[in-house]
Amino acid sequence: MTDPVKLAIESVDTDAVTAHEGVVAVLAEPGQRLDSAAARVNRAQRGALARLVASDVFGKLKPGEAVRMDWPAGMAAETVLAIRLGRKEDAAAARKAGAAVGKALGKAGALICAGSHKQAAQIGLGAVLRAYDFADHRTGERRMPGTVRLAVSDPKAVSADWAPMQAAAAGVLFTRDLVNAPANVLTTKAFAKQIKGMKELGLTVEVLDEEALGKLGMGALLAVGQGSDSPSKVAVIEWRGGKKNAAPLALVGKGVVFDTGGVSIKPAAGMEEMTMDMAGAAVVAGVMKTLALRKAKANVVGLVGLVENMVSGNAQRPGDVVTSMKGDTIEVINTDAEGRLVLADVMWYAQERFKPAAMIDLATLTGAIVIALGHENTGVFSNDDAMAESVLKAAAAEGEGAWRMPLGEAYDKQLKSRLADMKNVGGRAAGAVTAAQFLARFVKDGTPWVHLDIAGTALRSDETTFAPKGATGWGVRALDRLVRDRFEG
Ligand code: BES
Ligand code: MN
Ligand code: ZN
Repeated sequence: MTDPVKLAIESVDTDAVTAHEGVVAVLAEPGQRLDSAAARVNRAQRGALARLVASDVFGKLKPGEAVRMDWPAGMAAETVLAIRLGRKEDAAAARKAGAAVGKALGKAGALICAGSHKQAAQIGLGAVLRAYDFADHRTGERRMPGTVRLAVSDPKAVSADWAPMQAAAAGVLFTRDLVNAPANVLTTKAFAKQIKGMKELGLTVEVLDEEALGKLGMGALLAVGQGSDSPSKVAVIEWRGGKKNAAPLALVGKGVVFDTGGVSIKPAAGMEEMTMDMAGAAVVAGVMKTLALRKAKANVVGLVGLVENMVSGNAQRPGDVVTSMKGDTIEVINTDAEGRLVLADVMWYAQERFKPAAMIDLATLTGAIVIALGHENTGVFSNDDAMAESVLKAAAAEGEGAWRMPLGEAYDKQLKSRLADMKNVGGRAAGAVTAAQFLARFVKDGTPWVHLDIAGTALRSDETTFAPKGATGWGVRALDRLVRDRFEG
C-alpha cells in the first residue's frame, strides 16, 4: 500500500527559501506585493521572479497554475515553482496550487511558502493528493517523493485545518490503492482482509461468507460469484460516532474484483480495465476510513458486495432466473449486467438490517454513463431531490464532477420480463438510466436514495489535476463532506 507523502507544517523561515534543495514554491499575484519568501527568491535571482510575475505569461495563468523556473541562480533549489495564487483565492484554487507542487515533487521534497494564505491547508491537500504514486508492482526506480514542508505564519491554525483534510487524503489514497490493485492480488478474500484491517481505527467490521449470504437469500449476488474460485463476500463496516439511536446513513458499494462479463463475455480489448470494477466498494471503504480517522460525529454504515464475475462450468448462464433477497425474481438476460444483481441484494440487506436514514450506492455500473458523461462527471440518480442536491453540492465543493440524471416509470418498463418479475437489462437505449431503474426496484418506499454511477470517473487513462493516471478516488471527499454537511451535529 502507498504511504502518503509527509506534510510538515512549520513556521516561515526565510533562510530556508535559499537553502532548500528540491522544489521551492512561492505564491504570487500580479499587482500584489511579493511576500517575504517570494521577495527572498526574487533577490537571489536578481529580479527574475518579479519580471515573471509582471509578464504576460504569468498574467495568463489561471489561479493555482504555476510556472517552473529550473536551476535558479542564488538558491540551492532545483526548481522554483512560481504559483499564481492571490491572497483572496478560494479553496479550489489553493488545492490546485498544491497539486502543481505534488506533480513536481521529487526525492528532495518541497518547501511551500504559503505565508498567511487563508487556504494554506488546502494547498497541502492538493500536494498530497497529486504526489500519489502507485508503485506496489514496480521493481525499478521508484519516485520516493520527499517531505512537503508547508511554511506558514500560523502553524497551529493551519494544523487544525489540516487534520480533517489529512483524514480525507488517507481515505482517498486507500481507495486509489484498492482500485489500482490487480485482480490476482486484490481477490475477494484480500479485499475483505483489507477491510478487516480497518478495525484498528475503531470501526466495527463483519464479513459474511457464502453460507451466511445463502441463508439470507442473496440469490442474485451469489449467482454472479458462482463461476469464480474466489468466494463471494459481503463486508459490513460500521462507524457509530453520532447519537446513540440515530438511524445511520448507509453507503453501499459494488465490489466486483474482476468483471469478465461472465458467459456474455466482454471483448478482449480493454478487458484488463475491469480490475477497477470494485471501485464503488473501494470508495465506501475509503470514506469509512476517513470518518474513523477524523472521528466523525455521525452514524454511517458501509456495505460492500465482493464478488468476481468469471467464466467456468459453474458460471451462471444467460436465461437463468435468480431470486433476490427481496424475493423478486430476475431473468438474467446478460451476465455482464452483474453489478445491479450484486447491489440489489446488498442494498436490500442494508435497508432490512439498518433502517437507514438515507442510502447512497456507488458502482462502476454501466459503460452507458461513460458515453453520456465521459470521464468528468459521475452520474447522479435519486428518488429524493434534497438528497441529490446535497450530493451535488458536496461534490462541487470538493471539485469532484457530478451530474444529475433522470429516473422515471417509462424507463422502468424496459425491464419487463416474459418469465420473471424483471430482466437485468433494458436494451441499448438509456442504458445507465435503466440500470438505475433496476436498482430503484430494491429501494424501499421512504428511503431517500442516491445512486452514483462512477464507471467514467473512478479510473482515468489520463492524469488529472489531483491524480496521476489510474485510480482517482472519486467520491471519497464528496461523501466525507456530505456526511459533515448533512449528518453531523
Ligand atoms: N463493469 C461494467 C461497466 C463498466 C464499463 C465499468 C466501463 C467501467 C467502465 C458493467 O458490469 C457492465 O458490464 N455493464 C454493461 C451492461 C450491459 C450488459 C447492459 C455495459 O455497460 O455494457
Ligand atoms: Mn459487467
Ligand atoms: Zn461490472
